[in-house]
Order: sequence, then structure tokens, then C-alpha cells
Amino acid sequence: MDQPHATRKPEPDLASTQRDPEEESVHRALERFYRTGKPPWDTGVTPPELVALVEGDRARPPGRALELGCGTGTNATYLARHGWEVTAVDLIDRAVGQAKEKAAAEGVAVRLLHGDATRLDELDVPGPFDLFFDLSCFCGVPPHRRDAYAAGLTHRAAPGARLLMFGYGPEPLGNPLPEVTSWAAGVTADELRARFPGWELIDVTPGTNSVPTFWFTLRRNV
Ligand SMILES: C[S@@+](CC[C@H](N)C(=O)[O-])C[C@H]1O[C@@H](n2cnc3c(N)ncnc32)[C@H](O)[C@@H]1O
Repeated sequence: MDQPHATRKPEPDLASTQRDPEEESVHRALERFYRTGKPPWDTGVTPPELVALVEGDRARPPGRALELGCGTGTNATYLARHGWEVTAVDLIDRAVGQAKEKAAAEGVAVRLLHGDATRLDELDVPGPFDLFFDLSCFCGVPPHRRDAYAAGLTHRAAPGARLLMFGYGPEPLGNPLPEVTSWAAGVTADELRARFPGWELIDVTPGTNSVPTFWFTLRRNV
């Protein structure tokens, strides 16, 4: 059983040796969010789009799931409660610590890993996975790391696997990190088609936010 997060020793951050200055800035900004309390996105509510895929009109049989950018683990624990074998990754140690506490409190088994979704080869996540879930992680990954993210999922995808991704369109956030000049937050359908060869974009549903957001569903075709 893990110790409470406050007393845990920080884990070594393997990816930190490889981060370029742009990634380092993104990392620092994300860390600040988690250090200063509850980040704005941490609603504790599982979105209906994931619920539909797990227990609703788009339900898939439980299998293996990998969540990219799991934050404090709301959706990873939700999937585990519904019979999925879940691995979940986040770049920020503190978020992973909180996710472990959440899973322990709910009595569910989730493999929670501190690591970089664009460097899955450094983690013990062989797959294959039937479902990938990304709530607002990819759309904040610096553009030059996005192909590595896509390749990591492609190598670990079971035939017919789904990727359910929520993302902001490119405009609404502008550049949330002025010091990182090329951090173009946001994602489009065209970008996903280009970056995920061997996958088919089977659904794009606008989100209900006040700015343009989208739920993308991709299917691995082989
Ligand atoms: C907008 S938050 C959403 C968190 C969580 N999915 C939720 O709904 O509460 C995006 C998450 O992705 C994580 N993240 C960003 N870039 C990442 C990367 N390269 N690898 C792993 N996690 C990353 C952040 O630390 C953050 O927890």
C-alpha cells in the first residue's frame, strides 16, 4: 500500500533528462497547477461521452484501457469500477499520487504510472490496449512531441481499438504559456487524421463548452 502522498519520496523523473526547454516549461506550468490546489479541470465527474462508451449506447465490452494524462484519476477509477483493466499515466508526480489515493479509497486496482505519454517506451506499458482515453492531454502536448504520442498508442493498440479523445480547438486557449512561444494548444480533426495513420476518425462530436471543443473517436483499423 502506498504511503499518503504528503510523505512519499518523489519518484525519479526519467523523462526529465530528455525534455527540451519547451517541454520543461509545459511541465513546470502543469506542476504549478497541481501544487497550488485543485486544478480547474479536476471536476471529479466522468464525462457522459466516456460513460456512453462504457455503459451506454456505445458500450464496448471491458478490456484493457490506457488513460493518457489521467490527472487525479477520476476516469481511470471509473473504468476500473466497470471491469476494465486500467493503466493510467500522468506527467505530474503529484497528480499520480492523488490518483493512487483515489483508487485506494475506492478499493479498485489501477496501474498508475508517473511518466510521459509521448515516451511510453520508457514505461512498462506493453499493451495491447482496447481503449485509449485522453481528456485534454494531447491538445496540450507540444506539436513536436505529438507524432511520438501517436506512435506510442499505435504500437500498443489491439485490432479495432478505440481512442476517445477530448480536445480544445486551436483558437480558444490561445497560448496559455507565453514563455513557450510554439505551444499551440489545441487539436483538429485534420491533425488527428494526419498524425494517426492506420486509424480511422469515426466520430467528431462538438463539446458543450463555451469555446470550441471536440470529442474525437478513432478506431485502429488493423
Ligand atoms: C487538462 S488535464 C486533465 C486531467 C484529467 N484527464 C482530468 O480529466 O481531470 C491534462 C492532464 O494531462 C497531463 N499531461 C500533460 N502532458 C502530458 C504528457 N506528455 N504525458 C502525460 N501526462 C500529461 C497533465 O499533467 C494533466 O494532468
